Amino acid sequence: MKILISRPLPGGAAEFLLGKGYELRVLEEGRSKEKFFEAFCEADGVIPLLSDFLDAKIIESASSLRAISNFAVGFNNIDLRTCTKLGIPVTNTPDVLTDATADLTMTLILMAMRRIPEAMKFLADGKFAGWKPDLLLGKDLRGKNLGIIGMGRIGKALAGRAEAFGMHILYHTKSGSKPEIHYPHVSMETLLAESDVVSLHLPLTDRTHHLLGPTQIAQMKTGAVLVNTCRGPVLDESAVSEALEKGKLFYGGFDVYENEPMVHSNLLKLPNVILLPHIGSATVETRSAMGMTAAKSLDEALSGRRPSTTVNPDVYDTPAWKSREKKQ
Ligand code: DGY
Repeated sequence: MKILISRPLPGGAAEFLLGKGYELRVLEEGRSKEKFFEAFCEADGVIPLLSDFLDAKIIESASSLRAISNFAVGFNNIDLRTCTKLGIPVTNTPDVLTDATADLTMTLILMAMRRIPEAMKFLADGKFAGWKPDLLLGKDLRGKNLGIIGMGRIGKALAGRAEAFGMHILYHTKSGSKPEIHYPHVSMETLLAESDVVSLHLPLTDRTHHLLGPTQIAQMKTGAVLVNTCRGPVLDESAVSEALEKGKLFYGGFDVYENEPMVHSNLLKLPNVILLPHIGSATVETRSAMGMTAAKSLDEALSGRRPSTTVNPDVYDTPAWKSREKKQ
């Protein structure tokens, strides 16, 4: 069977799949969309990146496609409904990137609260003329409220880290309070009104697109910090940049963008932001583990098994998947 890997991956994913007897096609950095499309249409299994947008048209064009294993935990880049209808299981890479992403989120919170970008620029600009009692005063973390929107694996991992810094945690999820979580679950309005730091940890769907826009930002505390390491379109970027510029928000820490890889031009001009190039899971260990998770899930799916990482488990009830299972 033929497997397409969208780009060379760190770790042993390619070797693992070769060892299982698959024929691999690994595309190079800088390849055109046409090249990807051509290779996609010939593949039985694909490992795409979060930046490969797989819509109904491209999925329906791939007649031999039997499984997609996304090299990411988020899967908003894939038209799941079409995959399910066609009996194509889609998998992701949960768990292995939880710590790296929570670490990066905590880094953004610390950098924002202590105004690190301004401090670095101040020194690099040759303005550091000696210690001063009131130079670049930031905010303590201890005693501050951290509002986490979306309390999945990464939200929980962040909560543990922030608690160690003395922060009080509150959270909001659309599905309501989670019995296993001991932090207070509050309404979205309460979270926005009471949090000194708001951090987003939820998937991008039609329901979460622009979850925070002008109305919600107006409900936030003046001087709050806003951090986003999930998906850019969850925030209305122009409303956020306006709030940062006007001082409604103290600082913003962003790893993801509404029109990635484009960054809102106003955000780029502001002194009170930290802008990172989507590196939430970018550690050697994590990216290698993501590669192995993606490769193993794809092998399971192509062998007719049901990987635990399947994000459209209802696919296994479809006539399309069942008829393929019988042929195994
Ligand atoms: C993911 O896996 O969805 C992350 O955004 C990658 O860093």
